[in-house]
Amino acid sequence: MQEYDSCVPVIRQLKCNEMSLLHTHLLRLGQLSRTMRFNRPVTDQFIEEYCSHLASDNCAVYGLFLQGVLRGSVEIRLRTVSDASEAELTLSVEDLWQNAGLGTVLVADAFSTARTMDITTVCLVCLRENYPMRRVLAKTAARFRTMTSVRPDEDDPETFGADVFVTFLLNSGDQGIRRFLMR
Ligand SMILES: CC(C)(COP(=O)(O)OP(=O)(O)OC[C@H]1O[C@@H](n2cnc3c(N)ncnc32)[C@H](O)[C@@H]1OP(=O)(O)O)[C@@H](O)C(=O)NCCC(=O)NCCS
Repeated sequence: MQEYDSCVPVIRQLKCNEMSLLHTHLLRLGQLSRTMRFNRPVTDQFIEEYCSHLASDNCAVYGLFLQGVLRGSVEIRLRTVSDASEAELTLSVEDLWQNAGLGTVLVADAFSTARTMDITTVCLVCLRENYPMRRVLAKTAARFRTMTSVRPDEDDPETFGADVFVTFLLNSGDQGIRRFLMR
């Protein structure tokens, strides 16, 4: 874990012409972090193509900057074009800066931002073995208090392929978590 006490993290939205910052950030993720970020191993080329679509993808990208360098990111992506009230979060923190609280800060910031965008439901999908992400969710869940565990529904396209699928309702105060699905 890299100390970042001396530098204050700055989170701001990336402009369309700044996606190269996200691109180089994602390329700097170690293999395990990459796999966890995309829920499968991905190549450099995949990341390049992924970033080239983001600006036109109903997706707001926020970068976490340490001393001016993007070291973490969170994407808020509308789940369907027709419904602007439901979004999916994806996030990453570079390996050297993990376990220093930045992922938790990014999730909290994304929730605040989503509320300002009138998003009422946020979901996040991660692999079962992604213990750091699950820990971040558990810390967030502690603030939201209510959590129920149910088996995923094989017939529900929302949960298909998800190892851990979490949905937060942002407009219901402390009754925040609607579902916490695990395989
Ligand atoms: C998930 C991720 C964003 C978390 O970022 P982070 O900055 O490390 O998060 P935080 O420091 O706020 O919290 C991490 C927590 O996980 C805990 N943790 C780390 N490794 C762990 C493990 N193997 N088992 C259990 N807990 C673990 C840390 O101790 C910390 O908890 P604590 O604050 O109670 O000590 C980061 O690990 C990451 O970028 N991973 C790769 C991408 C990814 O998985 N994205 C999620 C899917 S979209």
